Amino acid sequence: MKTDKSDILTWLRNSEDYVSGQQLCDHFGVSRTAVWKVINQLKEEGYRIESVSRKGYRLVESPADVYSASEIASRLHTEWAGRNLHFYASTGSTNPDAKRFAEEGEPHGTIVVADRQTAGRGRRGRSWASPAGTSIYFTIVVRPVFAPDKASMITLVTALSVAQAIEEVTGLRAQIKWPNDIVVHKKKVCGILTEMSMTPEMDEIQFVVAGVGVNTNHDSPEDFPEEIRETATSLKIESGKQIDRAGLLERILARFEKNYDFFAETEDLSGLQEAYQAHLINMDAQVMILDPAGEYTGISRGITKTGELIVERDNGEQTLVYAGEVSVRGLYGYV
Ligand code: BTN
Repeated sequence: MKTDKSDILTWLRNSEDYVSGQQLCDHFGVSRTAVWKVINQLKEEGYRIESVSRKGYRLVESPADVYSASEIASRLHTEWAGRNLHFYASTGSTNPDAKRFAEEGEPHGTIVVADRQTAGRGRRGRSWASPAGTSIYFTIVVRPVFAPDKASMITLVTALSVAQAIEEVTGLRAQIKWPNDIVVHKKKVCGILTEMSMTPEMDEIQFVVAGVGVNTNHDSPEDFPEEIRETATSLKIESGKQIDRAGLLERILARFEKNYDFFAETEDLSGLQEAYQAHLINMDAQVMILDPAGEYTGISRGITKTGELIVERDNGEQTLVYAGEVSVRGLYGYV
């Protein structure tokens, strides 16, 4: 059996009492020295681990905002989301990394997490500023068995999961700007970039990657590039509290797994529509639809079971807006 730091850390984290060195050796089939080495490594990383003779080890405290593969893995409660995890202190962008792992056959639920991205990507060819220590950047691989035209709903499932997790962890109200921006106090805290890969025959999905960027611990608006300073914010700025990134990521993955399984059962959003709409900013309010074929205004009336935005036009007609090149604005700015 392969044993690494995450396994031992998980064991310590989940035990209320002391765990004896012998228990760890027996469970993982490794020597006392191997266990001792891992415990020392963890101590060096800032974990406070008490060792008491004849009783064993006990995790007393974890270092603040520790963000590493072992820390994230040891906190997961999911069955499949994030169970296969790649962590980088720095990478270009987690989306192409995740695609590469998916191409190589890595399983449904594989995630790539980075502390920093040097070529972070946003939607519509934009970049996504990704400095170290401030944010969550991760991409999850899913392997749906449904038809490609249903894949765009994964973005909405992801957005709902992030909004729910943010609310749970920070107590802030998180809203969704259809289809997939998360907004707190009318400013963007999260963006999602979903990409799909098809089989060579182009009739089936090979995999989908959903890349999520959450602005967590920026201290002030000056920490954002000038061009997004007016419209972006971080959870720390809005809540006044430092956010434990591993804890928030764990909650996002837990919510995502539950929501995704729910969605995959029916292959539509019927089970999630109500929750999604409860988070929808501009619900029953005037919106402007920036369609390359022509702009128009109307009242947003929620989403369909397949994720289109329902807009009631001024003449009373209902239009379904498909995600893609269209973008939605409030009448007076970003939301
Ligand atoms: C947007 O434009 O709103 C989408 C932003 C998506 C950013 C995330 S961060 C993790 C993943 N890697 C990337 O390069 N982009 C996505």
